[in-house]
Amino acid sequence: MKKIIRILLSMVIILGLVACGNSASQSSKKETTEKSSADAESTDVSESQSEDTKESQVKGNKVLVVYFSATNTTKGVAKHIANGLNADIYEIVPKDPYTDADLDYDDNNSRSTLEMNDPDARPAISGSVENMKQYTIVFIGYPIWWGEAPRIINTFVESYDFSGKTIVPFCTSGGSGMGSSATNLEQLTSGAKWLSGRRLNGSDSQDTVMEWVNGLGLNLE
Ligand SMILES: Cc1cc2nc3c(=O)[nH]c(=O)nc-3n(C[C@H](O)[C@H](O)[C@H](O)COP(=O)(O)O)c2cc1C
Repeated sequence: MKKIIRILLSMVIILGLVACGNSASQSSKKETTEKSSADAESTDVSESQSEDTKESQVKGNKVLVVYFSATNTTKGVAKHIANGLNADIYEIVPKDPYTDADLDYDDNNSRSTLEMNDPDARPAISGSVENMKQYTIVFIGYPIWWGEAPRIINTFVESYDFSGKTIVPFCTSGGSGMGSSATNLEQLTSGAKWLSGRRLNGSDSQDTVMEWVNGLGLNLE
């Protein structure tokens, strides 16, 4: 009798062990499945994250607002644009600053008159734009001098590679329009897309300036 009970007990233990083994292997299979589905999910996420990154790199135009201003009128407009777009701003500072006498357009021999009478004049600039490569949209602002951009703007546009960039010219003046100032500057660059520019007033509000900027159809976030 004892022998029969021992045989029965060992059968129960063996059956129990087999059952445990099955469920253990099943649960370890489930874990692997969960893990691999989790792995699959995380691959999806990282792919979609890298898609997002790619997208923001395409959309993420970085804007620089460049200006030259002898008497601060263009400077005010440039600041409106830079503030409105949260963009970087760069002032073209002449190595040799313009004095009041230099700016005297009634004097045939003043520096500005002489420079504007010489299409090859290239007044030197102090300093330079740090890492111009990072910008895809560059606003360039200047006062109108004798119907043109001051020659120092020629110096500026010839100093950098603007290929692939969008350039938006703007100016201030005593009343003249942009005339051919921007198209003449465009001749000095290659591979850039120049949008048609705009003459603005020093007294224009930030809202007025931004109304124009927002209507340009720039791909800004
Ligand atoms: C040398 C010189 C030439 C100028 N020529 C013109 C011109 O041809 N037409 C015009 O409307 N204003 C002309 N102006 C006026 C300036 O364009 C105007 O005052 C401008 O808003 C000044 O900008 P800024 O303060 O940024 O230098 C001239 C000013 C200077 C100093």
